[in-house]
Amino acid sequence: TLADAHIEIMPDEAIGTIAPELYSHFIEHLGGVIYDGVWVGEGSKIPNKNGIRKAFIDAMREVKAPVLRWPGGCFADSYDWRDGIGPRSKRPKRAAFWSQQDTNAFGTHEFMETCSAIGCKPYLAADVRSLPARDFYQWVEYCNAPAGEGNALADLRATNGDKDPFNVQYWGVGNESWGCGGEQTPEEYAGEFRRYSTWIPKFSDHPRDELRLVICGPNGDDTSWTRGLMKSLKGQHPYGLSTHYYTSGDAKKFAAGDALAFSADEHYDLLTRGSFMENVITDHWSVLSETDPEHKTRLILDEWGAWYGKGTELTPHYNLSQQSTMRDALLSGITLDIFHRHAEKVAMANVAQSINCIHSLMLAQEDKFCVTPTFHVFKMYMPHRGAKAVRAVFSAGSIKNPLAIDSSPVGGASTVGAIKVSPTLAGLSGSASISTEGNGKVLTLSVVNPHLDQALTTEVAVRGLSIASVTGIVLASPDIHNHNDFAHPDAVKPAPATIGAIQSGRLMHTFPAASVTTLTITLA
Ligand code: AHR
Repeated sequence: TLADAHIEIMPDEAIGTIAPELYSHFIEHLGGVIYDGVWVGEGSKIPNKNGIRKAFIDAMREVKAPVLRWPGGCFADSYDWRDGIGPRSKRPKRAAFWSQQDTNAFGTHEFMETCSAIGCKPYLAADVRSLPARDFYQWVEYCNAPAGEGNALADLRATNGDKDPFNVQYWGVGNESWGCGGEQTPEEYAGEFRRYSTWIPKFSDHPRDELRLVICGPNGDDTSWTRGLMKSLKGQHPYGLSTHYYTSGDAKKFAAGDALAFSADEHYDLLTRGSFMENVITDHWSVLSETDPEHKTRLILDEWGAWYGKGTELTPHYNLSQQSTMRDALLSGITLDIFHRHAEKVAMANVAQSINCIHSLMLAQEDKFCVTPTFHVFKMYMPHRGAKAVRAVFSAGSIKNPLAIDSSPVGGASTVGAIKVSPTLAGLSGSASISTEGNGKVLTLSVVNPHLDQALTTEVAVRGLSIASVTGIVLASPDIHNHNDFAHPDAVKPAPATIGAIQSGRLMHTFPAASVTTLTITLA
């Protein structure tokens, strides 16, 4: 058989270790994310652990969520953490940022309990737009100071049920400061960041507990924001640069069309737009090099996903909730593979958002719950985590994006993620990583075939080594529009891959049309 495509993996060309944190999460007080999605309340008939939806905890454990970001998003810059502590019956109800009332039933303690039930680390985004720096320090103090040692806030935390400090390490200093976080210029926000990050109280000298501050980065590929910001920081090097890139529409229409009803052209256009994540990473990495040649600051892609127009919300009041199809599974695979290929640049990535939102892994409404195709991709890609990303060359031609607009502007406050769209999409893309198991080396190869009706028979070779055996999992569905819902929770689910023949140490494998595949390859 002649191959349609080739993949060559270079086990000696290491890129970096794939941080498990690339598979991190984000939940915000928005629509049905927290209330209904995560928090059902202690008295609920819906199975829960102290008010937290059990199915949410179980699914997050299944994908071993490493870090969870909260409370926003834009909500973070309107949030007073003091509203969400103390007896629930006494907490104030507020008209919150996303035009919906917040009961504050879910606050800092409930969030920390969610994290410990999942077994993940908390990542708090602090309010920089509407609260003074003092409130930020005091939230750090409330979370991290030891109780019983004369610190009033730590003692208050203990009174509120948690004697032991939460030891929160990841702190976002605001959110989207170029937009909902205050419409600031990079120079103005740099001043705020310096003020908020100076003399934060420290409660431990152990390097393990060192705070990891995340500075608000650009809107999409807006490198001028990042350049202006980093220059104005005067030599400070935060742990991470929060970079938000949503796969949205072009400069004229923010939404990337409809989540469920889309044409073949729109399918290719969306995946082409999503692939632009690679440019966002490489462009920002070079801008960071200008002021930080040693790269002490790494990228934190703490909001990503495909953002569609209204119409597929689970209920009208679940603002920004949308359905997810097989197309979103392909976008998830493409995005995670890009993160792996830049493993040395990206410290963390948080899908927006875990449940009932933009690019979710789960949908929930009252007692109904299901996972999306994206959940399956997160699970299938788990063997990559902690492994060493290695260079792999994919030769599979390219697909012309039928809807490409070459001249779309980059970024802009009201057009989150509007981008220059590349005219072509890779015919096959993916990533490879290698780990040592026992005495042998195990290679994980993930591959996305974006063609809607073309399976690609592909020759897979590992430079200098022979392929000994292969197993695999594939996520594919007869129709790209297929998705899971409460009535059909398993409409899209992975299956064992039919592995092609191994000849002379090379694998000849067929990647089905519109599929995501992970192969586990043992080497000789
Ligand atoms: O994830 C939804 C919103 O998108 C977030 O609140 C904001 O940060 C971004 O614009």
